Amino acid sequence: MWKVEAVSKVDNIFSQYVQKQSVFKDKTVLTSNFIPEKIPHRSEEITQLSLALAPMLKGFHASNVFVYGTCGTGKTICSRFVVNQLEEAAKDGQIKTIYINCKMKKVADTEYRLLAQLLKELGECVPDTGLPTDVLYRRFFENADSKRQTLVLVLDEIDALFKKIGDEFLYNLTRINQELKQAKLNIVGITNDLSFRDGLDMRVRSSLGEEEILFRPYNALQLKHILEERAKTGFETGLDEAILNKCAAIAAQEHGDARRALDLLRVAGELAERQGDAKITEAHIDMAEQKIDLDRVIETIKSQPSQSQIVLHAIIKLAESRKKTTKWADARLLTGDVFATYESVCKENGIKSLTQRRVSDLIAELDMLGIITAKVISKGRYGRTKEISMAISNSHLDRVKAFLAGRFSP
Ligand SMILES: Nc1ncnc2c1ncn2[C@@H]1O[C@H](COP(=O)(O)OP(=O)(O)OP(=O)(O)O)[C@@H](O)[C@H]1O
Ligand SMILES: [Mg+2]
Repeated sequence: MWKVEAVSKVDNIFSQYVQKQSVFKDKTVLTSNFIPEKIPHRSEEITQLSLALAPMLKGFHASNVFVYGTCGTGKTICSRFVVNQLEEAAKDGQIKTIYINCKMKKVADTEYRLLAQLLKELGECVPDTGLPTDVLYRRFFENADSKRQTLVLVLDEIDALFKKIGDEFLYNLTRINQELKQAKLNIVGITNDLSFRDGLDMRVRSSLGEEEILFRPYNALQLKHILEERAKTGFETGLDEAILNKCAAIAAQEHGDARRALDLLRVAGELAERQGDAKITEAHIDMAEQKIDLDRVIETIKSQPSQSQIVLHAIIKLAESRKKTTKWADARLLTGDVFATYESVCKENGIKSLTQRRVSDLIAELDMLGIITAKVISKGRYGRTKEISMAISNSHLDRVKAFLAGRFSP
């Protein structure tokens, strides 16, 4: 392993690192933003999407498309690939694509920001705040219609946009074509929220989904093949078949998610490199799985509101105090006890506590996130309560505790 032996200016502390052959040839190939030259196992979906958009190359009306499917099934990569090709095939910039990831902060949080971003993509500068949105709409409209062109607006993670600003904006966009004289506007909406469509206004749903394309999860064999292709250019030396099989099998079990498979391989490579190993082994994959899992748990907890974090803190505190008599994972806590501990944590930290009913809702949310397990039990004539236990694995608890201890005392 690379270890800094003695600190002096004579031997640069990075020299060992620099001299060592890297496991990676090109790490960017293994990151999720990279668009590879070949996209195996998606020719059907790519064909469907290109057929829907192709008419605009001849100046005809093309359908708005709704792309959906679970995480890591290649929706983003395939859509970006197709619109890139479309732009390339069009003459004289007659087709312009605008890609927006609606989950990105400061881009699509408000109608104003989104319109400002669209105008920016069309080369027009808008102040960060201050103008009425109808002025922005008009400017966007006039700019778009200033020449004969087709705009393809790719709204990735469109469900996030809907959650933030509702469907009025989408409604306006889908109507805009009726007023444009020279230009045309097409929308490609992408989501992994399979129930998103059901929440939309009927009119928006039908115009947005003139064409719908479903991306199915990959199976283990397909995932292995995808990994194989990326690994060829990503890693310095070839990977053992067993390594590819293992990553593919883990990702196939988890909804056929190609991002998961790639992350496993990349993180395993990073761990191998850190340990000074020349090759990735199955042990590195196991460690990578643990690390990714832990990062995910911590990220989930970090993204929860403070009150939820306090509830979790209280649950862990209470479980720890019971640890002396039972095994940690077996500690069964009742809502009432959790609430009492929660109230005392709030008091200690000078935070106003919520009602027991609200805390019970937060417990249900933590359960849904898979952080705890809450089972409803009957207490005879005393009514019903919840029995709460930890769902985070023991190996992850220390990091979770450290994070919460950094936020709340004691
Ligand atoms: N067929 C494929 N060939 C090569 N790489 C792929 C393929 N499908 C997916 N990937 C890779 O897997 C990762 C996830 O793909 P992508 O981002 O397109 O998924 P997604 O369906 O948009 O997921 P999400 O719903 O979470 O946004 C990316 O790194 C992408 O490059
Ligand atoms: Mg995506």
